[in-house]
Amino acid sequence: MDSVASRPVTAIYPGSFDPVTNGHLDLITRASNIFDKLVVAVAHNLEKDPLFSEKERVEMLETATFKWVNVEIDVFDGLLMDYARAKKAGVIVRGIRAVSDYEYELQMAMMNRKIEPDIETVFMLPAEQYSYLSSRLVKELARLGGPIRDFVPANVQERLSAKFK
Ligand code: PNS
Repeated sequence: MDSVASRPVTAIYPGSFDPVTNGHLDLITRASNIFDKLVVAVAHNLEKDPLFSEKERVEMLETATFKWVNVEIDVFDGLLMDYARAKKAGVIVRGIRAVSDYEYELQMAMMNRKIEPDIETVFMLPAEQYSYLSSRLVKELARLGGPIRDFVPANVQERLSAKFK
């Protein structure tokens, strides 16, 4: 068996990505620099009613991440830990923007550890300028005609403008 140090590590960055923001992309950059392979996994079954379809969310991510060779975009359904096992992933990446994110993320990470103790959750911090950014706020801004240019990549800006024109 390979030693831990020499084994390539696949990490999964799961989320709704409704839509992907520059904060997500900042995290993807950081995580893809650390792990050998990063799978950005779009949740298929959302309790929230998404603005964008699964296909649209995947397309936006694919366009925004085409330059990263070790980043793959995928969709998952059901339990994240079942998906992570199937992908032979060793790590789940989640972003923490502020203390307010921590409680929910901690609960999720501990539950995921109970389900699958061999998969670690790694919390990463986005750049400071994205610490207040969320997909929810971006959608609200777009719906009300506010400025979204600094918060999402160009392809997402176009899709948001089309949704709310
Ligand atoms: O971007 P989000 O909405 O914060 O992502 C949350 C997501 C999709 C990562 C989380 O809800 C999830 O992992 N869902 C899959 C179902 C699952 O495994 N639930 C148990 C988690 S403890």
